Amino acid sequence: LSTGDNTILIFGASGDLTARKLIPALFKLSQKGFLNERSPVIGVARRDKTDEQFRNELRESALKGNDDKDTAAAWDTFAKQLFYRKVDISTEADYASLHESAKALEQQLGTKADSPRVVYLATAPALFDDAVRGLNSAGMIPELRKHRDRLRVVVEKPFGHDLKSAEVLNEQLRNFLHEEQIYRIDHYLGKETVQNILLFRFGNTFFEPLLNRNHVDNVQITVAESIGMEGGRGAYYDTSGALRDVLQNHVLQLLCLVAMDPPALFQAREIRDEKMKVLQALRPGSDGSLKSWAIRGQYSDGLVDKQPALAYREEERVPSGSNRETYVGMHVEIDNWRWAGVPFYLRTGKRLPQRVTEIAFQFKHPPLNLFSTVECDGNLCDIVEARPNELVLRIQPQESIFLRFSTKRPGMQYHVQPVAMEFDYEDHFSEQLPEAYERLLLDVIRGDSTLFTRSDELLAAWKFVEPVLQHWETTGSGLEFYPSGTWGPAAADRLLSNTGRSWRQPK
Ligand code: BG6
Repeated sequence: LSTGDNTILIFGASGDLTARKLIPALFKLSQKGFLNERSPVIGVARRDKTDEQFRNELRESALKGNDDKDTAAAWDTFAKQLFYRKVDISTEADYASLHESAKALEQQLGTKADSPRVVYLATAPALFDDAVRGLNSAGMIPELRKHRDRLRVVVEKPFGHDLKSAEVLNEQLRNFLHEEQIYRIDHYLGKETVQNILLFRFGNTFFEPLLNRNHVDNVQITVAESIGMEGGRGAYYDTSGALRDVLQNHVLQLLCLVAMDPPALFQAREIRDEKMKVLQALRPGSDGSLKSWAIRGQYSDGLVDKQPALAYREEERVPSGSNRETYVGMHVEIDNWRWAGVPFYLRTGKRLPQRVTEIAFQFKHPPLNLFSTVECDGNLCDIVEARPNELVLRIQPQESIFLRFSTKRPGMQYHVQPVAMEFDYEDHFSEQLPEAYERLLLDVIRGDSTLFTRSDELLAAWKFVEPVLQHWETTGSGLEFYPSGTWGPAAADRLLSNTGRSWRQPK
C-alpha cells in the first residue's frame, strides 16, 4: 500500500468541503502513514491568507474535538506540510505563480521529482473550465502529458445539472485532460459498506446464486435522511432537488453495484464496464404515465424525532412557493437476463422518519404455503403466513447485513415466527470504519479509479433521469406533500401497493 510522494492542490480551499471533509481525511491519511511528510498539501482560494492562518482555521475541524496530546502532536507535524496560496481561479496569470509555488514547496519538502500531482476541484462546476485552462496555461498539464499518471484531477458533484450541462463539463475537462486523469467523486462509493457489496456478492458462494429473477421478488433501495435544509443549504438545494442531489448519483450507483454481473477482473475498467451495462438496461418500471413509476414529494411541517420541523417552503433561503421535490420514489426495471421482470423500488428524501441507507432483497414466497396459521386475540383472528425471506445490506447507520427467515415458534402448533441472522460491523470489528473521503483520496493518490464514476456511466445516469426532470419542471405536475417525519407521499406507496407489495419499514 505504499503511496510514495504526492503534491495535493485543493481549489476552493476556503470552502466547507475542505474544512469538513478533505483536510480531516488527509490528516487521517498522514496519521496512518499513507501521506508522507514530503507531500505538500496546498490550499488554493481567492482570499488573502497566510499559511499560518490556513493551518489554524483547519485545526479544529481536523481534530474534531479530539485534542489529546498524540493527536495534537500529529496535527502539528501534518500542519508543516500544509500551505495556502492565493489564486483567482478565473485569472489565468495567477496560475504561473501557483506553479512556481508548487515547485518551490516540493523542493522545500524534498518531494521526489516527477511525483504525481493531485488537483482537487472543490469548487462550483462553473469554474472547472477556468481551472483546467489555468493549469494548462501555466504548463502544469503539458509538462505532465507524456506521463498522464502524474496529474490527476478530482471533481466534486454536482457534475452537471442535466445531460447537456454534464456533457459540456466533460468536454471542458477533456479538452485538456485524458479520461484516466479525471476522478469524478461520488462519496457513496467510498463508504466501507458500499465497497463491501461487491465482496459480499462475489466473494461468497451462498448468496449470489439467489440474486436473480428466479428467486428475488423485488429489490428496494432506500436513502432516507431525517435532516432538512440545515445551515442555509436551501439555496443550493432548491436548484437541485432529490432527483439530482441523491437519486441520479448515489442511488443509481448503489443500484449498479447490487445488480451488476461479476467482472472478469477486479479492476477499474472491468467493474465500470459491468456497471455501465446495468445503466444501459435500465428502464421505467411501467409503460404508463410518468406517475405510474416516478413519484415526487415535498415535505410539509411535522415532527421529526419528536421535534417540530418546518415545511420545506418555510426553510431558510427556500423560495416560498417552491415546487422543488425533496422526495423521489421510483419503480424501475433492468432489462437483462438476470433481472428481467424484477421491480427495483428506489426512494430517497429529506425529513423522513430516520436516517437510513439500505438495500433489501425480498425473495419470492415458497411455492406452496404450508405454514399459514390462524392466530386469535380474543375474538379477532388473523391468518399469519410465513413472510418472504429478506436479505438486507444496511449501509448506514448501524452498518450490518441481515437475513430474515421464518421459524417455528416453540409450542404445540406450527406458529410462524420471522427471525433474523445478523452480522453487525461494530460487533465484529474494533477498527473504526474509514470515512468515505479518506478512502477516495487514498485511491486518487494510488491512481486507482475503481471507485469513481466514469464519464459514460455519469452520462447514462443523466440520460435516464432527464425525461423525468423535464416533465416535472416543464409541467410543474405531480408534486405531492408529505408531513415531515413520515415516509413520503401516499402516491409512493401506490407504486408498490398496486401489486400487493409494500415498502420495507427499516428498523
Ligand atoms: C450529498 C447530498 O451528496 O449526500 C446531500 O448533496 C446528502 O444532500 C448527502 O445529505 C448524504 O450523504 P450521507 O453520506 O450523509 O448519506
